[in-house]
Amino acid sequence: MENLRDKTSVILRRMEVSDLEEVIALESLVFNTHPDIDSYKKACLCKENIYMVAEKSDKIIAYCTIVTSYETADLCNIAVTEGYRRNHIAQRLLLECILHCIAMGTERILLEVREDNIPALEFYKKIDFKEIGRRKGYYIKPYADAIIMQKSLLSVPSISTVQTHTKNIL
Ligand SMILES: CC(C)(COP(=O)(O)OP(=O)(O)OC[C@H]1O[C@@H](n2cnc3c(N)ncnc32)[C@H](O)[C@@H]1OP(=O)(O)O)[C@@H](O)C(=O)NCCC(=O)NCCS
Repeated sequence: MENLRDKTSVILRRMEVSDLEEVIALESLVFNTHPDIDSYKKACLCKENIYMVAEKSDKIIAYCTIVTSYETADLCNIAVTEGYRRNHIAQRLLLECILHCIAMGTERILLEVREDNIPALEFYKKIDFKEIGRRKGYYIKPYADAIIMQKSLLSVPSISTVQTHTKNIL
């Protein structure tokens, strides 16, 4: 694997329609789902949605999808290719998405996560998401509760503060 300490070589950018095949392949592999490419394409082109990818050597290694609606945004998915995890790629990607949310006037980001998905729970805690509720038995096969988490963007004073915070934790 290439040297991941060279973080500059990981490019964060908006997802494009031409990325969808790779993004869907990653999503299918990680979540064992089979997303419909046409729905993905529509969502990717929608200006209210923040769909971003991390690219390294012309390969998509991570993606994050956020759907915004007025003051609220829903984090739909975030995933990193297995061999590239624990290199702060998801952290950089999500913080970049958060900057876009702030610029759009979003006040809070919500998400649901399996109660047994420890890496994801730890990850969201690190980004300062707080548990605000649970949906009992939300996931089946295998059964699990969903933990609902929220990150308020109202307490983030400005974009420059997020940028400084990003620099400090990377
Ligand atoms: C969750 C996921 C996106 C994190 O991606 P990542 O690039 O490995 O995460 P980062 O390197 O940015 O981690 C940032 C912080 O999150 C926490 N974290 C991430 N993975 C963790 C793990 N496996 N165990 C404990 N803490 C973890 C740590 O605090 C980490 O900071 P540190 O490395 O300085 O200690 C990745 O594990 C993944 O793709 N999982 C499968 C898909 C998934 O479950 N997505 C969430 C759906 S709700």
